[in-house]
Amino acid sequence: MAPKIAVFASGSGSNFQALHNAIEAQKLNAELVVMVTDKPEAFVVERANKVGVEALAFSPKTYDTKAAYEQAVIAALQQRGVEWIVLAGYMRLVSEVLLQAYPNRIVNIHPSLLPSFPGKDAIGQAIAHGVKVTGVTVHYVDEGMDTGPIIAQRAVNIIEGDVEATEAAIHRVEHELYTEALNQILK
Ligand code: GRF
Repeated sequence: MAPKIAVFASGSGSNFQALHNAIEAQKLNAELVVMVTDKPEAFVVERANKVGVEALAFSPKTYDTKAAYEQAVIAALQQRGVEWIVLAGYMRLVSEVLLQAYPNRIVNIHPSLLPSFPGKDAIGQAIAHGVKVTGVTVHYVDEGMDTGPIIAQRAVNIIEGDVEATEAAIHRVEHELYTEALNQILK
């Protein structure tokens, strides 16, 4: 049976879309049972609705604590038999509550060659620093900001003077590399 995954996203959801497409095309052996967002207004909700993946939108502010928010998420995941959590533009640090419920079962994608340029706007950070090569990293999640053990990386050249083209190139690599890395670990 294909491993059951939940994709967590806070924004546009192009990585959610790519993972869904890879599963449909039988390039990724997984069942995407639910998309979880902490931003009910995010475009990823529309994407999930359009492709018929259940979208669960949480408003973390309505919980007294981060732990209470994550407990509610965990309960929803467990009800659905989710085995792996795939973070794809989920703009929130996960706490030990979620980590303990899914030990070594939470992965993330980040648009740089970690440990360079962790945190927000990694592509902008790389361009501002003047590096010629950046890339994409898929890694296990721990309590730090983009710090867990690395699963896969791929380099992408910075296209000088063209931020948009550089971003597009990085996103294209993200969409391929996440599927490859997940196939490697979801065994
Ligand atoms: C991606 O660049 C991902 O690496 C980062 O956030 C971005 C999300 O993009 N963590 P999208 O919402 O999947 O389009």
